[in-house]
Parts: sequence; structure tokens; C-alpha cells
Amino acid sequence: MAPIQSDAFVFFGATGDLANKKIFPALYAMVRRGALNIPVICIARAGRTLDKIKDRARDSIKQSGDFDEATFGKLAALLRYSDGDYSDEATYRKLRDTLGPSKNPIFYLAIPPSMFVTVVGGLQKSGCAQNARVILEKPFGRDLRSAQALDKTLHEVFPEDAIFRIDHYLGKEAVQNILYFRFANSFLEPIWNREYIRDVQITMAENFGVQGRGGFYEEVGAIRDVVQNHLLQVIALLAMDAPAGRDSKTMQAEKLRIIRAMRPIDPKNVVRGQFAGYRDEKGVTKDSQVETFAALRLHIDTWRWADVPFYIRAGKCLPISATEVKVTLRRPPLAIFDPQDKMPQNYFRLRLSPEVVIATGALVKRDGEDMLGESVELTARHNSPSEKSPYERLLGDAIRGDPALFTQDATVEAAWEVIDPVLTGAPAVVEYEPGSWGPAQAADVMQGNDTWQDLQVEKSPPC
Ligand code: BG6
Repeated sequence: MAPIQSDAFVFFGATGDLANKKIFPALYAMVRRGALNIPVICIARAGRTLDKIKDRARDSIKQSGDFDEATFGKLAALLRYSDGDYSDEATYRKLRDTLGPSKNPIFYLAIPPSMFVTVVGGLQKSGCAQNARVILEKPFGRDLRSAQALDKTLHEVFPEDAIFRIDHYLGKEAVQNILYFRFANSFLEPIWNREYIRDVQITMAENFGVQGRGGFYEEVGAIRDVVQNHLLQVIALLAMDAPAGRDSKTMQAEKLRIIRAMRPIDPKNVVRGQFAGYRDEKGVTKDSQVETFAALRLHIDTWRWADVPFYIRAGKCLPISATEVKVTLRRPPLAIFDPQDKMPQNYFRLRLSPEVVIATGALVKRDGEDMLGESVELTARHNSPSEKSPYERLLGDAIRGDPALFTQDATVEAAWEVIDPVLTGAPAVVEYEPGSWGPAQAADVMQGNDTWQDLQVEKSPPC
């Protein structure tokens, strides 16, 4: 039976940063495509008005790109507003009235995770949660224990199949292409293992700081913000076994299996950095130990991946904004032509953002009499970012009740299990210069002679 379509979209955190940057533009894009025609109820703290919310939505959409008054008019006609404090029961009674005839609303909690339980409790007591779905922003919990506690509380109100834990990386075209590229081709699987792959690196670099979100960032830090979720999810797609089918349950089961095989990270294999100047940001303490950069080594204990290091690096104020995976292959067993240690190794390069690239590094013979090589890159795909933003895709899926690109309770908890030792046992943060590739100590997480492979920096404004 096809899932029931939600008949109202209720949006907590309508005046927040995420709403501004991603949610209003996504709702607008859905309206433009004719994919949104249910009431959108914005909730914010007392003192706002519907007109103010509309102005905010208009500004945010204009800032994000093209703007068309007629399309905006259609979105504005769907907008409703209900205000109040999230911890006040009256807020939810008012919301119940605003929902009117809606029987299957969907509640999107784009608010700090510390407020989830309060809001879910308010929805339950007021009767709003009946036959409803809920979308939760990441990070889901602060560690394994809090994620388990949150799941327990949520399950008292919503069944698991009504809970949509969003990780916008899973809505990226390039991230879905990892799965497609791996399992729609037959040439990869025979070499996609420890016999041929020597290491996997993933770098998520951003050439900006915390952009006024110091208060939020102090609660989170790079490991909770992007490693526990976005980057472990990407690794799961790179490392999982072929699912027996494409339905969501089969896919989720394979993903869960590989995340459970990830060895909890040894704090000795982690370096945390903080960019110089972070402590002067609004909302940040003068002696903050929150990391804006993390470099770490992960191992996956399966026959396929034993001894293959997975290196993860993520940071703010780096030289470029881009996320890229590099899968490096072992050298051929004999160096017949070129000196073994001088020639680059074969690799697969998957750029996940801003553009989509799938490329392979290979060697060909240089022109001339000598049997010497040069490296070339074969490009299988090079696209600008997808026209459909991850949020547009994912919010549409949640409204339709399609869970395929959302994370489940067991998966999120398994990911916390991998990260948990680092949250309490990691070494102190090391300062790094904005615009650099993080602290030099990041090299310490490398095994043997491995080195970080910095992404190519085109012209990019300094942090
Ligand atoms: C968010 C993090 O989940 O992802 C932000 O909270 C980060 O800190 C953002 O900047 C990056 O997303 P994208 O899609 O721009 O790579």
C-alpha cells in the first residue's frame, strides 16, 4: 500500500539559520515544480507575524538565486503562522487550531537538538502527533546514550516508520551516484576490496568559518556536526556490500551492517583543530575546546576491508569549499617501466560537492622512445550541482512518506557507537591558521607513509 501523503507541513524553527539558507528556498522550488500544495505552518517564538515570516521567506529565496513573484505568491498563499514558546502548552493548543482539518500533518523540527524532547512532548499532549510524521534535523543526540534516550522518547509518540531523520548529504545527487556507480557497473566490484584498494580518503573542506553560528557550534563541533552523520554515511555507501534489491529496507539493512562493522575510533587516531580566531566569535567561550577541524583514521572489520585505512578530514576555514573522496589503488606487483615509488597510483576520485565528478587516475605512455609514463585522469561524469537541492528532494520524500533517504534508529545509534570514544577521549584542540589545511599534526593519524592528498584549489576567497 502506498504511504499516505502528509496534508500539512509544520515547520519549527522558521526564523532560524537553516530556514533562511535552505528550507524556504527548497519550499519555493517545490512550489515552482508543482510539488507542494499543502499548508505550510511556520512556528516561531512569540512576537512575529505572518507578514514578517513572508518577508523573511522572500529575502531568503531572493538571496539563494532566481526569484519569480508569481511562484512566490503561490508559496505565500500556503504559509500560515502560529507563534509561542516551545515549552508552553498553549503553543501546541494554538497549533492544533491552526492545523484545522489536517489529519496527517508532518512536523519538521529544524531547531537545536536540545529542544526535540520538549517539542515532541508538546505535540503529544495536544493531540497534534496523532497520525503524524516527524522530521528531525541532525545531529540526532549528542552521543550514543542521548541518541538512545531520544529514540526511546520518540517511540513513545511516533512509530519508527513515522520518524524521518534527515541527513541532507543523502539527498545529494553525487552521494546517490556513489551507490549507482558502484553497483550498476561490473568492473568495480572485483577490485573494490583490500586486494586492490590501499586507502580511502574523504575530505570535507569549507573555506568559511562558523558564520555567526558560534552558539550552535559550541554545542556541536566538527565531529558531531559532520563526521558522525554526513561522512560516515558516505563511507557506508562506499564500503557496503551490494544490496539484493533497491527497496529501502534492503538498502538500509546493508548500510547498517557496514556501519556496525566500523571499529569504534581509537582517540589516538584523531586530531582535533581549531582555527585561530574561533574563540573571538560571538557565542564562543574564550577557552573553548570545541573543534572546527577533525582528522581521523577509521577501520572496518570485514574480510573486504581489513587493514584498509579510511581517512576522514573535515574542517572550517580551509583553503576551499569542496567534499571529495579519493580511493587509491595499490601499485602493480612489478615495476616494469617506471620506478615503482615515483609514479602516481591509480585512483578513483569522487567529488561530491560543489560539482559532481567521477574520475579515474591512470597511467599512459609518454610520447617518445622511452617506455616512461605520465598520469592522466579519465572523467566519467563532470556536472554542475544538481538543480534539485538535497532539501527539496528530502522534504518532498518525507511529505510523500518515502523513507529511503532517511536514517533509521539503529543506523544512527551504530554511527554514534563508532564515534563515542572520540567524544570523551580525544586530545586537546590544536590551533591552525585560517586558509591552511588544518594543523600539521593531522598527519599523525596516517598509517606508514600515507599522506593527506589536498584537493586542488582553484581561485577561492580566503576565510
Ligand atoms: C551541515 C553542517 O550539516 O552541513 C554545516 O551543520 C555545514 O556546518 C553543512 O556547513 C555543509 O553542507 P553542504 O551541503 O554545503 O556541503
